[in-house]
Amino acid sequence: LGIFLTVFTLLFDFMKRRKKWNHYPPGPTSLPFIGTMLHIDFRNPHLSFNQLRKKFGNVFHLQNCWTNVVVLNGYKTVKEALVHRSEDFADRPYTPVYEHLGYGSKSEGIAIARYGHVWKELRKFTLSTLRNFGMGKKSLEKRVTEEAGFLCSAVGSEEGRPFDPRFLVNNAVCNVICTTIYGERFDYGDKTFKRLLHLFEKFLNEETGFLPQLLNVVPILLRIPGVPQKVFRGQKEFMDFIDVLVHKHMESWNPAHIRDFTDAFLKEMQKGKVAEENGFNYNNLRLVTADLFGAGSETTSTTLRWAFLYMLLHPEIQNKVQAEIDKVIGRERSPTMEDQVNMPYTNAVIHEVQRYGDVIPLGLPHMTYRDIEFQGFFIPKGTTVITNLTSVLKDEAVWEKPNQFYPEHFLDVNGQFVKREAFMPFSAGRRVCLGEQLARMELFIFFTTLLQKFTFVLPEDQPRPREDGYFAFSRSPYPYLLRAVPR
Ligand code: HEM
Repeated sequence: LGIFLTVFTLLFDFMKRRKKWNHYPPGPTSLPFIGTMLHIDFRNPHLSFNQLRKKFGNVFHLQNCWTNVVVLNGYKTVKEALVHRSEDFADRPYTPVYEHLGYGSKSEGIAIARYGHVWKELRKFTLSTLRNFGMGKKSLEKRVTEEAGFLCSAVGSEEGRPFDPRFLVNNAVCNVICTTIYGERFDYGDKTFKRLLHLFEKFLNEETGFLPQLLNVVPILLRIPGVPQKVFRGQKEFMDFIDVLVHKHMESWNPAHIRDFTDAFLKEMQKGKVAEENGFNYNNLRLVTADLFGAGSETTSTTLRWAFLYMLLHPEIQNKVQAEIDKVIGRERSPTMEDQVNMPYTNAVIHEVQRYGDVIPLGLPHMTYRDIEFQGFFIPKGTTVITNLTSVLKDEAVWEKPNQFYPEHFLDVNGQFVKREAFMPFSAGRRVCLGEQLARMELFIFFTTLLQKFTFVLPEDQPRPREDGYFAFSRSPYPYLLRAVPR
């Protein structure tokens, strides 16, 4: 009877699951081994997704070799998942990179960490440390304003000649992260800083190359001796460099005098068993630092490069921003975050830069935390979920002119700023961007400080730059030159 009951229960469970699988989201036909990969243009996956959405609707499935993937599209669907069913979608797919580089399976930092206690503790600590940053010393805003001043001087030293803003903007944004983590900034010409930026560039490029992606999909290949070290050499070198900076910091560490994020993290690590349970160990210090660099610099600097490009392409909008800066701030004092509420037009322009620039088109991958029913579909626990943020930021059902740069999306008839719920460049819900406040501050202070001092114009002999972008770690503008003419 026992055997009969067991077999019966298993069979019943199997039938129940099979019935549920009948409600699995629709998708393109899958081929043996490669799944549905031929349906995706990996250089522009967000565009392939838009095509598939037309055919299969807002919730469709893909198969990446053996991995089940569900793609969510459109404002309503993405909001329902990320905001109303936040915990159901809060997990992240397992990314074996760091484990295979020798950091252990228990240290994952924040951005790629599985949803759970350690992620919660590290995220809470990082958010509050960034927020309360300064602790009686320089506030974060002061640091950003100071860096904006250095950026202005560097732009001024180009003396109106054509230049590619990428290098200077990257330096400035990376310095804000350095100052947060290590309490100090670097001169743009500093040798250590140049090496950091060089390694960081390698780190990002390798992270998005074909091989790492293949290894994430077919992790068994990582068991081949020497493979992880070879493929992730950029990441390894970058992490080694972070080690050097942390060790230097530890030499002058004084628990009674917390100077920055690293100091605060080292202090947490002293809390013995509680610290270990909450994930405050040396590996996580390195990984959270790498997260803040990785997630916090390329995103912000790419957004700024889109902002300057749109000002070149739309001089009438640039004039209106400058008129508002002159009226509210004047030409003498530096912009502050308090000015933002009095500058609806500039605020709307910055929001539109983020909406139209669409810097992280697919967000970061999520994973279902449990078996769920969603919009009539069954999505099993452990399914990778991609939130198509492009389809939200350019949703035709929401935006008046989704495929044009149109700051009026964020203005009412009286020219006052209006918040829009479908504005989700930072995603939403439990995994919402941890650096949103810092990023917003950087975008406002850098943008207004530069336009207060300079007018951006196209060099005479340069063809009109392209308005479309290319997809790597983020969606970036093609390289362009500008002239910064002092005002
Ligand atoms: C996550 C966008 C700046 C740190 C994310 C995500 C997006 C995003 C779309 C994925 C959220 C999700 O999984 O649903 C942006 C944009 C930025 C920016 C557009 C600039 C314009 C920053 C900055 C920092 C930062 C300045 C740090 C100082 C992070 C971290 C995560 C994250 C740590 C992972 C959060 C988690 O998994 O809990 N960001 N970000 N980001 N961002 Fe940002």
